[in-house]
Amino acid sequence: MTEPLKLAIAGLGTVGAGIVKIVQTHGDLLEARAGRPIAITAISARSRSKDRGVDLSGYAWEDDPVALARRDDVDVVIEVMGGEDGPAKACVETALGNGKHVVTANKALLAMHGQELAELAEANKAALRYEAAVAGGIPIVKALTEGLAANGIERVMGVMNGTCNYILTVMEDTGADYADVLKDAQELGYAEADPATDVGGFDAAHKLSLLAATAFGTRVDFAGVKIEGIERISLTDIEDAADMGYRIKLLGVARMNEDGLEQRMQPCLVPADSPLGQLEGVSNMVVVEGDFVGQTVYQGPGAGEGPTASAVMGDVMDIARGLVIPAFGAPAKSLVQAPRSTKGADAEYYLRFSLADQAGVLARVATILGEHGISINRMRQYGHADKMAPVLIVTHKVARTRLDGALAEIAGEDVSLAAPVAIRIETV
Ligand code: NAP
Ligand code: HSE
Repeated sequence: MTEPLKLAIAGLGTVGAGIVKIVQTHGDLLEARAGRPIAITAISARSRSKDRGVDLSGYAWEDDPVALARRDDVDVVIEVMGGEDGPAKACVETALGNGKHVVTANKALLAMHGQELAELAEANKAALRYEAAVAGGIPIVKALTEGLAANGIERVMGVMNGTCNYILTVMEDTGADYADVLKDAQELGYAEADPATDVGGFDAAHKLSLLAATAFGTRVDFAGVKIEGIERISLTDIEDAADMGYRIKLLGVARMNEDGLEQRMQPCLVPADSPLGQLEGVSNMVVVEGDFVGQTVYQGPGAGEGPTASAVMGDVMDIARGLVIPAFGAPAKSLVQAPRSTKGADAEYYLRFSLADQAGVLARVATILGEHGISINRMRQYGHADKMAPVLIVTHKVARTRLDGALAEIAGEDVSLAAPVAIRIETV
């Protein structure tokens, strides 16, 4: 019989349990497709006694994930514990250092240490794969490193956090409270251990930085991503945006400009009838534009047990077939440190002001915008409450820095009752 590919799984939470289920359900199918059996030999988690809904009795147990990564009866270490440092990093380093392949779903770890880990993998002739780390079940890393490998990539953009898309769309569809919808997303296994990572935009920014490195042949530069989360988006913004024909998405864009790499992750308005605008629930969508292929679009579930385990096992199948390619699509030492672009494309913005309901207040806001060279495209004022007048403005195209100057001045006025909200309107 052909020698099985032997797996160790570090972490038996949402993703780890899903991986066990796939191996146990599809043993024959995996063997037929890979040309060899795929077997779990050892596992690790914090609690040995926790019921995880799967039979773990046939696997060796290690309390310490680093000891797991050293075992002689393991070819591939699957790291699905999470965390940018600590046990996850130690486990992955140990595995790679011992020449074992690593498959991980841990975008935080790779966003922080991707370059050194990719170099370590190559030095030890091991694979470092992370399909599950970006956009859940969508094989976007494979698309970039394989299917689109002959293209110069011009832009990568999309919705890359399932929790945020779930929150924004369920709030719009049901009028439910933000905290309740976030709690649902946690119960469904979508959210990170600290959900502030999701709603703060950091998780999606981790993913964007990995895609940017793969798309542009650059070193991962998470610190270079401009990040804004969805915490300040209210149901009012969601409803007002819908009223004006838009939907709010946490949208990431990576593009190589003349002066360097632009990476931003921020809430944006997109046309409600566009493919991005119609993205519901936990779904993600990634758009890649290549010089020869044109625009390609990838959509699917961005989080959860089944989709994430599916992506992990796709990487395992490649390893079983003998495919070892550089983590970011090009040898790690060839990746360049791109300068950070200081220019972002100008955009239209949706602005929401909470102003004192007094004569002349609106004129004052319009004057400040005008003094900063910001031209108004559309404006609405309705829903007065307790002497507060909500004012919605859609601007013509403007640079964000210019807009920020105007908003800071308006926020400093006595008649401004809450910090203004500004959301970019993205052309898709
Ligand atoms: P989770 O449900 O919280 O599971 C984490 C697992 O890691 C648990 O089994 C936990 O053990 C174990 N663990 C944590 N610290 C450990 C330590 N020091 N030693 C040994 N085991 C430890 O997390 P998850 O949702 O499966 O996510 C795992 C990874 O996948 C994260 O990097 C996450 O970002 C990524 N990811 C998740 C999803 C998703 O939809 N959930 C999607 C894509 C990527 P106990 O169970 O004993 O506490
Ligand atoms: N917390 C992440 C999300 C998991 O909601 O998208 C998938 O990476």
